[in-house]
Amino acid sequence: MRHLIAGNWKMNGLRSSLNEITKLKSLLAASQRAVDVLVCPPVTLLERLVVAAKGTVVKCGAQDCHASASGAHTGDVSAEMLSEAGAEFVIVGHSERRADHAEADVLVKAKAEAAQRAGMMPIICVGETQNERENGRAIDVVTNQLLGSLPNSGEFVVAYEPVWAIGTGLVPTLADIEEMHGVIRGKTAPAVRLLYGGSVKPSNAGDILQVANVNGALVGGASLKADDFHGIIDAYK
Ligand code: PGA
Repeated sequence: MRHLIAGNWKMNGLRSSLNEITKLKSLLAASQRAVDVLVCPPVTLLERLVVAAKGTVVKCGAQDCHASASGAHTGDVSAEMLSEAGAEFVIVGHSERRADHAEADVLVKAKAEAAQRAGMMPIICVGETQNERENGRAIDVVTNQLLGSLPNSGEFVVAYEPVWAIGTGLVPTLADIEEMHGVIRGKTAPAVRLLYGGSVKPSNAGDILQVANVNGALVGGASLKADDFHGIIDAYK
C-alpha cells in the first residue's frame, strides 16, 4: 500500500503561503520518497494550489464539504464544487468541525458519501478527548465513531486523531497508537489507509510512521512550513 502524508492547513494561508508549495516542490524533487503527498488548503486557495502543484506528486484536497450536491445552503461548498476545483480528497469529521459545528457521526457519514459520489476520496477523522482517554473509554468512543461515520461501501481513508493531541505537542505512546490502529484495522479492509494525526512533526514522524497499521499521517501545524512538512515526508524511510 502506498502511504499518504496529508497536510491540513486549517484556516491558515493567504496567497503568499503558496510560496511554501514552491519550496516543497523543490525539496520533493530532490528527495523522491515513494509516498503520496496531499495538501488541503483553505478553499480560497484550492484552485491556485492545483495550478501550483501541477506536474508534481502533490495532490490537492479540501477540509470539509456539504452533504448535498447543491441547494440553499448559504456559505457551504459541495463535494461536486470541490472536485471541479481540482480536489481529489476531502477531510470530513475533523474534531474541530465536530466541536465548532456540532457535526455528528451521521452527518460525517453523509459528507463522506458525498465526497465519494463526486469522485473524491474522503479522509474520515475519529478520535477521543482527553477525558474519554482518562476514563478508559478511548476504544469505545472511536469504535462508535467508526460505526456511525464510515460509508457503507466504496473507498475511504481513516485518520485517527486523538483530540487532546491536536495542536498541543502531546502524542500518545507508540503502544497506544498501535493499539488504536489495530482496533480501527479490525473494522476496515486491509487496503484502507489509516493515518495518525495529532502533533506530528519531523522529530517524531519516523517513529510514528513505523507503527503497525499506520499508513501515513495527517499533519496540521507542521504542514504550513515546507521544511517541516518535507521533514515528515522525509522521515518515511
Ligand atoms: P496538528 O493538527 O498536527 O497541528 O496537531 C493535526 C490535525 O488537526 O489534523
